[in-house]
Amino acid sequence: MNFTYYGHACFAVEIGGKTLLFDPFITPNPLAAAIKIDTVKADYILLSHGHVDHVADAPAIAQRTGALVIAPFEVARWMEKQGAKIHGVNPGGGPGFDGFKVKFVNAIHSSSLPDGTYGGCPGGFVITSAEGNFYYCGDTALTRDMELIGERDSLNFAVLCIGGNFTMDVDDAIRCAEMIRCDNIVGVHYDTFPPIKINHEQAQEKFKIAGKRLHLLPPGGSLKF
Ligand code: NI
Ligand code: MN
Repeated sequence: MNFTYYGHACFAVEIGGKTLLFDPFITPNPLAAAIKIDTVKADYILLSHGHVDHVADAPAIAQRTGALVIAPFEVARWMEKQGAKIHGVNPGGGPGFDGFKVKFVNAIHSSSLPDGTYGGCPGGFVITSAEGNFYYCGDTALTRDMELIGERDSLNFAVLCIGGNFTMDVDDAIRCAEMIRCDNIVGVHYDTFPPIKINHEQAQEKFKIAGKRLHLLPPGGSLKF
């Protein structure tokens, strides 16, 4: 699985020749200024919740690519009004798509859309496929529910928020990595705004002491899992 980071909590994973794009927030993010939005590929766009730092570029990318949007029911309806093809989910989830399955899992957070309307339940995604499995936690606090994920699926990697203030910080992300039984973590949701700035070396050292690896990619950087 090829992984590409687009800054903040936006990234893409290629599975079976299809590109799954998560939480696009690129044009409003100065740290992602080098990313050309018109070159960002998507066959599927997955949205964890309605906050603007997760959906800002979703309507434009959905309109350009014709990607299918997989999102919490209320967020999916908001995308449909803007011309997107949608597949709404709620916690429980589990639908299958072309080469992968999506489970929408609990996140401890809030969710409203950029126009102020109700965004439904926020969540995270567990993606399972013949090429491997991964978990993206969305915006969330640490919760024991994460143990269920580790009990059910073996994960090749996980994408975890680490910036604190609005979500898990580095210490809680390490506890999450233990609960989900995953050693390969990609950090997201840090540095974009002053309250979520982190010390990279210190964060990576803490993961190392816990016997885990924290990948911190520059926007545009990629990895293979
Ligand atoms: Ni949020
Ligand atoms: Mn956020």
